[in-house]
Amino acid sequence: MCGIVGYIGKQDTVPILVDGLKRLEYRGYDSAGIAVLNGEISVIRRLGKLKELESALLESTPAGFVGIGHTRWATHGKPSEENAHPHTDCTGGFAVVHNGIIENYSSLREELQAKGHTFDSETDTETIAHLVEENYKGDLLDAVKATIKQLKGSFAMAIISKHEPDRIIAARKDSPLVLGIGDGENFIASDIPAILGSTREVIFLNNDELVEVTGDGVNIFTFNDVAVDRDSFTVHWDFEAAEKRGYEDFMLKEIHEQPVAVKETIRSRFQKGKVVLETSSNLTDDMVKAISKIFIVACGTSYHAGLVGKNVIENWARIPVEVDVASEFRYRNPIINESTLVVAISQSGETADTLASLRGAKADGAKVFAISNVVGSSITREADGTVYTHAGPEIGVAATKTLVSQMAAIYVLSLYLAQVRGTLAQNEINNIIAELNELPEKMNELLKDINGIKSCAMEFSDCKSFLFLGRGIGVPVAMEGALKLKEISYIHAEGYAAGEMKHGPIALLERSVPVVVVATEGHTYEKVISNIQEVKARDAQVVAVATEGDKEIKNHADYVFYVPRTSELLSAIPAVVPLQLLAYYIAKIRGCNVDQPRNLAKSVTVE
Ligand code: F6R
Repeated sequence: MCGIVGYIGKQDTVPILVDGLKRLEYRGYDSAGIAVLNGEISVIRRLGKLKELESALLESTPAGFVGIGHTRWATHGKPSEENAHPHTDCTGGFAVVHNGIIENYSSLREELQAKGHTFDSETDTETIAHLVEENYKGDLLDAVKATIKQLKGSFAMAIISKHEPDRIIAARKDSPLVLGIGDGENFIASDIPAILGSTREVIFLNNDELVEVTGDGVNIFTFNDVAVDRDSFTVHWDFEAAEKRGYEDFMLKEIHEQPVAVKETIRSRFQKGKVVLETSSNLTDDMVKAISKIFIVACGTSYHAGLVGKNVIENWARIPVEVDVASEFRYRNPIINESTLVVAISQSGETADTLASLRGAKADGAKVFAISNVVGSSITREADGTVYTHAGPEIGVAATKTLVSQMAAIYVLSLYLAQVRGTLAQNEINNIIAELNELPEKMNELLKDINGIKSCAMEFSDCKSFLFLGRGIGVPVAMEGALKLKEISYIHAEGYAAGEMKHGPIALLERSVPVVVVATEGHTYEKVISNIQEVKARDAQVVAVATEGDKEIKNHADYVFYVPRTSELLSAIPAVVPLQLLAYYIAKIRGCNVDQPRNLAKSVTVE
């Protein structure tokens, strides 16, 4: 995730900016840069780690008391020096750093180019610098206000101008920004850790607010121009706690970031009832209409997203789908031709088996499409097109927010296929879009009350084995619940199609083997209840994930985790959240390192 730091005061700004950026390194980034005011604006940017930037600064360090810095994690445009922030306008009079996504950047860019602006990068952010240049009539604050009115999307940004060396203007919409208050100096940052080396007095900027920061103080305004008076508070967290935003572990933080991950992934992909895939997707309507078969290939958690994809694509777009673990697909000689679409799902974009599967499928003539969280990763570079997830970097080794954003991307892709092939009516598409847009808020609600999950974890943390069951869209959810539990708590767990239980796993059942059942509303709900009865008859205890308002389930299950109602195919997203939390709390009770489970790696680049 990108990071922002800004400084204005009496000290040399470069060491302060670099220190702040170092404190944001844990968030992941691919390039970094700073802009310092010293009469002109000096911008220094480098691809790669901060040490590259530091080496460049050793050669020539700009002196100045005002500056902004950024660590970039690519969303628009590959990781490169040109795409690294800060970005400047045509005159070099303004520099901007930005986190978030400007949804309407391509139309704004075209308008600006038509007015004669020239762009040096592929980023959405550079648009902001040119808009500020265009809107500047002698007051930077006014220029930024005017610019904000033209932007759609999410942003936290900080802007400096050589014309007004005594202030930084910053603004926030749907992307965090904090102010650090010092003595004769003030700070801006996307996250508290960035400024903890200098101050513990902090003010959070709220959504739809902008701020003028000078050495003497901060003046906050709403986007509607109402002045805001807000006191600072003292941060008592140590640095490590601040990195995790007060959560005990990255995994817990990332579970709680899932509503945002889903929101960011679907953001801007629906416009006036149309599903819009970014230009990088490269799928023409003719190609979509010609698809006769889809293979989804992936590993681990991403494979479970693929299983969700099979259910959704077959239902909405009526194209036959096979889902394969990549390590099998690459060696099994599947039947592929020019009308085959292969979708490779990989959060890291680097998984060796998935990459090899993609190469094999391409060589056989298939179109290959990627779903990935990392811009410029190997899989995205070799695929014909990519639908990016926008979960931000995931630091916990066990995938959580990247999974729900993969599912969100799959819903978008499936709707797109259905739209082009005409397999869903416009009103059906509209209804699904409306439901998808409601999901982040529903997930927020779900995450507010997790005490029941904690007590259930206490009850079962000593068990040696778990069974997870589901039907339909609940099968991948059950499989993911089992995978999360085994990888972070080291308890044996199996995820199974509930109807298959009687063909084998039922032999495992006894009091000491809890059975977690995904029993959300759907067309096989009654069948799931019958499976629960079979489990109860063998004396095993049942934990059910059910839809809010389901009164019947209590008669069958020992524990119930309720999730908000949504349509059956979309229910995979809310249903997986309690299972992640169950695994998390059981692992914590057992004293496991949830962020770095033994033997596992975040990116599996070997076969
Ligand atoms: C599980 C997990 C792994 C990954 C798998 C694929 O929590 O993280 O199972 O899902 O290694 O990784 P990507 O998605 O990077 O291809």
